[in-house]
Amino acid sequence: MTASFPLFAEVPLAARDPILGLNEAYQADANPKKVNLSIGVYYDAAGKIPVLSCVQKAMNALAGQTAPRTYQPMEGPAVYTQAVQKLLLGADHPAIRDGRVATAQTIAGTGALKTGFDLLFSIIPKATAWVSNPTWDNHRAILGGAGFPVETYAYYDATTGGFDLAGMLRDLERAKAGDLVLLHACCHNPTGVDPTADEWGRIIDTIEQRKLVPFIDIAYQGFGDGLQEDGEVIRRFAERNLPVFIANSFSKTFSLYGERVGALTVLTANADEAQRVLSQIKRVVRASYSTPPIFGASLVSTVLNQPDLRVLWEEELATMRNRIREMRQMLRERLSAQVPGRNYDYITQQRGMFSYSGLSAAQAQKLREDYAIYIVESGRICVAGLNTSNIDYVAEAVAAVQKG
Ligand code: LMR
Repeated sequence: MTASFPLFAEVPLAARDPILGLNEAYQADANPKKVNLSIGVYYDAAGKIPVLSCVQKAMNALAGQTAPRTYQPMEGPAVYTQAVQKLLLGADHPAIRDGRVATAQTIAGTGALKTGFDLLFSIIPKATAWVSNPTWDNHRAILGGAGFPVETYAYYDATTGGFDLAGMLRDLERAKAGDLVLLHACCHNPTGVDPTADEWGRIIDTIEQRKLVPFIDIAYQGFGDGLQEDGEVIRRFAERNLPVFIANSFSKTFSLYGERVGALTVLTANADEAQRVLSQIKRVVRASYSTPPIFGASLVSTVLNQPDLRVLWEEELATMRNRIREMRQMLRERLSAQVPGRNYDYITQQRGMFSYSGLSAAQAQKLREDYAIYIVESGRICVAGLNTSNIDYVAEAVAAVQKG
């Protein structure tokens, strides 16, 4: 049929999303041996996406409540935003006491990034955004959508499988004052490579000296070394009294992917600034989705604010973190046995859900087509998708494609 007004005649088919597109292909794959190591989702030892007990208990408690489902404030409820601030900065942080922190509930981490970038673009429209090479594929898309030109700073060193501090500092010297620098607080996506505490010190010094605007993405707090440890860089930035943007997500750490729970937090110089910044965040939210949804955030704030549930959550988070570590260990051992002489130490040195395997796009494709093992074409493997039932199969397949 020909349309009377051919509006869509020239609309091209968009490229498949490098992560969500693979997840769709995995769902459609009929191979019983299929393994999903593509999307950043934590599976438990039985290969299931867990419903955390703390979340189940919060759900049970909320089920008995019959509060009206009215509109929430544009920035979300204070019980939630205050709990987020305490989680990120520590309960009695002076920045919270001084009222210089602005926080709004967002549609998960992606929504926090989008809201923060849109706000920043209205403040620094001439800025360039600097992202690590590589970074989460969607960072570039969201930054571009907000209007920023995007450049990369060196990050991953393919020769060592580690962090390239000198390269990063060299590239940040090229940034101009007021440019935005996107940082991953912990469990870098996609590489799993994080700077050490000393290296962070050098990065923070450079950002301060060059008057760059740090934007911290923290989607895996507690998956690396622990809740405190993984949030340390935020407190170190806060000490310098710099303007800092923070996008956090509870998708992974609460296993609440579909609820889309996150927040945008901005550290400002004083309470007056914080109030003005929050008013601007509300303006962006209103023009985007108006007000945030209730359910997921009420689960998270119930868990964070109720001491027994909070303890339970931290235990469950530790279980997830330790299982991922165990899988890293097992994968390293199995691959080392399969391919003697090859160094797989990077697998246990990297942190969080992801391991950058060094596998090429062609090898990733071979894994998918010949073994129904789905990894991202950049070579990123989601270690949290491994378990004792699939790890031998995966290690044998990876070794086979690496041997060619
Ligand atoms: C990932 O990197 O796989 C996750 O953050 C999920 C996503 O939205 O891409």
